[in-house]
Amino acid sequence: MTNSATQATITIPVGPAGRAMAEPMSGELLDLMQAHLNLERQSSADYFAAAIWFAERELVGFAEHLRDEAKQEQEHAAKFADYLISRGQRPVLDTVEPPRQQWTDVEQVIANVFRMEADVTASVLQLYGTAEQDIDRRTTVFLDAIVDAQRLSEHEAAYLLGRVKFAAGNPAAVMIIDAELREGEAEPAKLEG
Ligand SMILES: [Fe+2]
Repeated sequence: MTNSATQATITIPVGPAGRAMAEPMSGELLDLMQAHLNLERQSSADYFAAAIWFAERELVGFAEHLRDEAKQEQEHAAKFADYLISRGQRPVLDTVEPPRQQWTDVEQVIANVFRMEADVTASVLQLYGTAEQDIDRRTTVFLDAIVDAQRLSEHEAAYLLGRVKFAAGNPAAVMIIDAELREGEAEPAKLEG
């Protein structure tokens, strides 16, 4: 049997990259997602600058820890790029600004690390609020795990800042923290047994 229904052409909406798109994203959410992807790339550059600062001062544990963080931020940027592509959107890469490289002491570098993580979390939460407003469930589900991972990043940065403050610039104490970082043992306390 032939009728118009069986012969109907299936038309799938496509996004800017020409990929099949199940549901469009609002312009506001898309702009915020693009900005966030680039914030992760900026964080990576900032972490790398901090790693260099420590490498120049023979603080290998700090340098390698921050180098690993720089790599993680690249992975976070990639996660957002993957997500945008999965939604039929095109990731747009922006300029990465030259990171700050001059610091007075260890505490200032780590205080900046904490502030950076808090800023990234604020950006994720802004995305979350916009996705909720848009009733864009794919995005809120995607962001759920990222919000919790950010909380843990803040927790780790707060721990490191606390240790550094406790050391109060004492070289022997800073060396102990550096050794802990080198061995991958610099973790906040876990009370849950
Ligand atoms: Fe990140």
